[in-house]
Formats: sequence, structure tokens, C-alpha cells
Amino acid sequence: MHGTEELSTIALVNLTLRPGKPDDAKVCGEICFNAFTAISRQHGFPPDLPSVEMATGFLTWLLSRPDVYSIVAEVGGRTVGSNFLWEGDTIAGIGPITIDPDNQNSGVGRGLMENVLARAAERKFVGVRLVQAAFHNRSLSLYTKLGFEVREPLACLQGTPLKKSFAGFPIRPATESDLEACRQLCQRIHGHDRKNELSGAIQQKTATLVERNGRITGYATGIGFFNHAVAESNDDLKALIGAAAEFGGPGFLLPSRNSEVFRWCLSEGLRVTQPLTLMSSGLYNEPRGAFLPSILF
Ligand SMILES: CC(C)(COP(=O)(O)OP(=O)(O)OC[C@H]1O[C@@H](n2cnc3c(N)ncnc32)[C@H](O)[C@@H]1OP(=O)(O)O)[C@@H](O)C(=O)NCCC(=O)NCCS
Repeated sequence: MHGTEELSTIALVNLTLRPGKPDDAKVCGEICFNAFTAISRQHGFPPDLPSVEMATGFLTWLLSRPDVYSIVAEVGGRTVGSNFLWEGDTIAGIGPITIDPDNQNSGVGRGLMENVLARAAERKFVGVRLVQAAFHNRSLSLYTKLGFEVREPLACLQGTPLKKSFAGFPIRPATESDLEACRQLCQRIHGHDRKNELSGAIQQKTATLVERNGRITGYATGIGFFNHAVAESNDDLKALIGAAAEFGGPGFLLPSRNSEVFRWCLSEGLRVTQPLTLMSSGLYNEPRGAFLPSILF
């Protein structure tokens, strides 16, 4: 047997999966930071999570959320990776999945992916989705083998907030009383809603909306890596992006096939920081409007 194949077999034999718990945050946070930093550096991109502390804080938050299922991988009793399933809305979201760089490419990622997919099936989710770094050959191949389809190429955009308003496209903060109308808008555009995420953003006071002639024609839970937006038209989406006080995290995710909005963002001075891919398995409706997906949910 070839050397690497032998290693793979040993790792797989000793692989154990168990539910995550809050005190996994330190080890899994370090792995998360190391895994993302290693793959981004190999390709000359900045890491998504700038420090181990941020990665640990992020995983502490995930491991405490009742709407997020977590799973930890151990090889020979040592923690080597983790994965998460966002269960709060109609379509479940997967990630972040990260494996210790020394234990990659030996089946651990497949084990963690199959586990969350089994969980999603058991919970009867009609669809699952994720966003992967488009330069990462291995994750693209693994997800495709597991049944995921490429839905949209994405450009992560970052830069100075535009502070632009558009006549006839007034933006205001979204409140609890807008929840139902926004839910219906998402339903019209995506065929399902994201009420849980939207409700959280309203509570955090990051959600905004466009209202034309007394009708909500677009909303955003924020404009950033961890936010989503839906809009009836490209002009509604531009108004939401134009009014954003900041572009959270590494930037916001724009479907790059939306050439009109993409060209507008570039003409406004925003820069592409990395290419990503929206993938899904199960229910997926071609959106009937403009949208920005979030990295996780
Ligand atoms: C992506 C990641 C989670 C995958 O986990 P892993 O343990 O390394 O992957 P596995 O060994 O389980 O699976 C890799 C699969 O892709 C295949 N593969 C790897 N590189 C490939 C390539 N260039 N072309 C085709 N197939 C490839 C392997 O053969 C394997 O397929 P198999 O399961 O049918 O044998 C892990 O590499 C990681 O943490 N990467 C850094 C962080 C990251 O990018 N996370 C994903 C965010 S979306």
C-alpha cells in the first residue's frame, strides 16, 4: 500500500465523532484559525478570521447557541476538527468546518460532513447550504462528491462605506413589526424564509430595509460576511449597500453573475478580496430578485 493511503486508513480507524461542548472552544478555535489561515496563505489571501482569539470567541458563541448543532472529531483521543449545522431556519446552513492541518486529507472532513448531513436528514430539513472558498480544490471536490451543487459564484467585496442614498429608495432600520413583511419578501424571492436570522438581526439592531410606496421591497440583516439581504430589484439592493455604515467581517458576498450590481460596486471603489462559491443540496429555488447570501446561514 502507498504511504499516504496507509496514513488515511489509520486515521479513519481511530476517528471518533462526539457532540461539541462549550469547553471545546479553545482547542477547536485554534484549529479553526490554523486551518483557515493555512489554506488562505497557500493561495495568497488574507485569513477570514484575523486571530486565534477571534476564532475562539466565534466558536464559543457557536457552541453556546441552541439553534446550532455541533460535532467534534477526535483521532486517537485528540481533537482534530469540528463542524456545525445551523438549524434555525427552513434551509440548514453548514459550517465552519475545519480540520487540523496535520490531519487533513485523511477522511476526517468527510466524516464530519456526513454527520451533519445525516443530522439534517433526520431533522427533515428540505435543503442544506454552505459557502466555500472557490480556490480550495479539496472542499469543492468533497462537497460535490457529497451531493452539493454549485449555485452561485460569489465575490467578497470590501472597502470604504459608500454613504450613498438614492431618491425614491428610502432606507430605515427594520423593527419587530416589519418581521412578517420581510419574511414574506424572502419567501417570494427564495421560496423560503429566514425568520430566525432576521429576527436576531432586528434584536441586534443591524437590520435595515427599503420601503417604496408603503411596501417593503428589500431588507438586509446587515451588509457583511455574516449577513444576508434580499431585494425585489438591483436598485433596491444598491440602496441597501449604499446606506451601510460598514461592511462586516472580510466583506459582503455578492453573486458575481449580478454584473450590474457588481460593476456598480467596483465603480464605487470597492475591491474584491476573494472568490467564493454558494453550494446547496436539496431544495434550492432560483432567486426571483437580487440577493446577498451570508457565509453561514
Ligand atoms: C476542507 C476540509 C474541511 C476537508 O477536510 P479533510 O479532512 O481535509 O477532507 P477529506 O480527506 O475528508 O476529504 C477530501 C476528499 O476530497 C478529495 N480531494 C482532495 N483534493 C482533491 C482534488 N484536488 N481533486 C479532487 N478530489 C480531491 C479526496 O480524495 C477526498 O475524497 P473522498 O472522501 O471521496 O476520499 C479541510 O481540508 C479543512 O479544514 N480545510 C481548511 C479550512 C476550510 O477550507 N474549510 C472549509 C470551509 S468551506
